[in-house]
Amino acid sequence: MKTLNVDLGERSYPIHIGSGLLHRSELLKSGIAGSRVAVVTNETVGPLYLDTLLKQLAPWDPVCVVLPDGEVYKTLDVLNNIFTALLKNRCDRKTTLIALGGGVVGDMTGFAAATYQRGVPFIQIPTTLLAQVDSSVGGKTGVNHPLGKNMIGAFHQPECVIIDIDTLTTLPDNELSAGLAEVIKYGLIGDPEFFFWLEQNLDELLQRDPQALVYAIERSCSEKARVVAADEREAGSRALLNLGHTFGHAIETGAGYGAWLHGEAVAAGMCMAADLSRRIGWLTLDECARIEKLIHRALLPTRAPKTLSGTKLRELMSVDKKVEAGKLRLVLPKGLGHAVITQDFPSALLNETLEQCREPA
Ligand SMILES: NC(=O)c1ccc[n+]([C@@H]2O[C@H](COP(=O)([O-])OP(=O)(O)OC[C@H]3O[C@@H](n4cnc5c(N)ncnc54)[C@H](O)[C@@H]3O)[C@@H](O)[C@H]2O)c1
Ligand SMILES: [Zn+2]
Repeated sequence: MKTLNVDLGERSYPIHIGSGLLHRSELLKSGIAGSRVAVVTNETVGPLYLDTLLKQLAPWDPVCVVLPDGEVYKTLDVLNNIFTALLKNRCDRKTTLIALGGGVVGDMTGFAAATYQRGVPFIQIPTTLLAQVDSSVGGKTGVNHPLGKNMIGAFHQPECVIIDIDTLTTLPDNELSAGLAEVIKYGLIGDPEFFFWLEQNLDELLQRDPQALVYAIERSCSEKARVVAADEREAGSRALLNLGHTFGHAIETGAGYGAWLHGEAVAAGMCMAADLSRRIGWLTLDECARIEKLIHRALLPTRAPKTLSGTKLRELMSVDKKVEAGKLRLVLPKGLGHAVITQDFPSALLNETLEQCREPA
């Protein structure tokens, strides 16, 4: 097992990564302070892993909440199911919530923990690659509003994150690839050696080789932990984690929510960001091609859908959260393994990227 620390002063916490961790009750125990525990999972993950977890939690006689599965259920309405279960079971302020599932379960459980009786502790047990390398670390929690994704939320850091890579054996292939998009992102924003390692070891990751998975998750989490420790509330540099996301969000929205997985849209978005950097002169043709090739090998899209015109994409990008005083702010690679947050790029070059980085008609 590997253990990393997210360094946030009194809100610091460990991330444990390894095989068989769902069976290790001592890891759970060290994250549980009070006498009550409530586990939140969903209809897909529950039947796979809830029993194993409950065996370890037997001494706490945990309350269980099983949510419907899907991003469409990441709402205030469904969140209320968690509060209702906690209140019905007379859970007090010392109750620890445990999120067992992907990013949707993690974000909702975290937000429930941030707000139930003005805040209770929680533990993340992420079961998708995306949740293991991204959403379970960093303390962003929340739900969607009909008028916008993740618009209702809070910063609330977990007590610990327990990543059992064995849970990835049941993950569908497209969800694994979606997680790999975020993994590749960490290489691109600040860890060139990791990018080179990914070029060498991508096939092992696709085959779910345990050693390769532990290494990639560890490296991704430590990059995320580093960025979050430097800027917990996204006043500045945390925005680097949004590489590919402004393009990606435009694709997600334009294609209709659910048509593309988030990681798929981010993958195409990173290729578009790389293409723009190449036009500006921040990446060579060869570097740009290497990024695109790695993303393609991860079985991810490298282009926006042909159904979305460049003009439409541009319009969708300008309603993104990252617009400041009317000027679009983008995260763009500058050399392999380095990225910058910038408003300083020629609009004409962005338009060229948006026109040309689309699937052929
Ligand atoms: N808080 C953050 O910093 C942050 C960062 C990135 C993404 N997010 C959020 O995370 C969510 C996306 O997370 P996700 O990609 O994990 O999606 P998800 O939670 O919807 O999980 C994807 C699918 O895989 C299933 N699943 C989960 N674990 C499984 C397993 N081990 N075996 C088989 N099936 C499994 C789920 O039930 C679901 O159907 C979005 O809501 C996004 O906004 C949050
Ligand atoms: Zn993302």
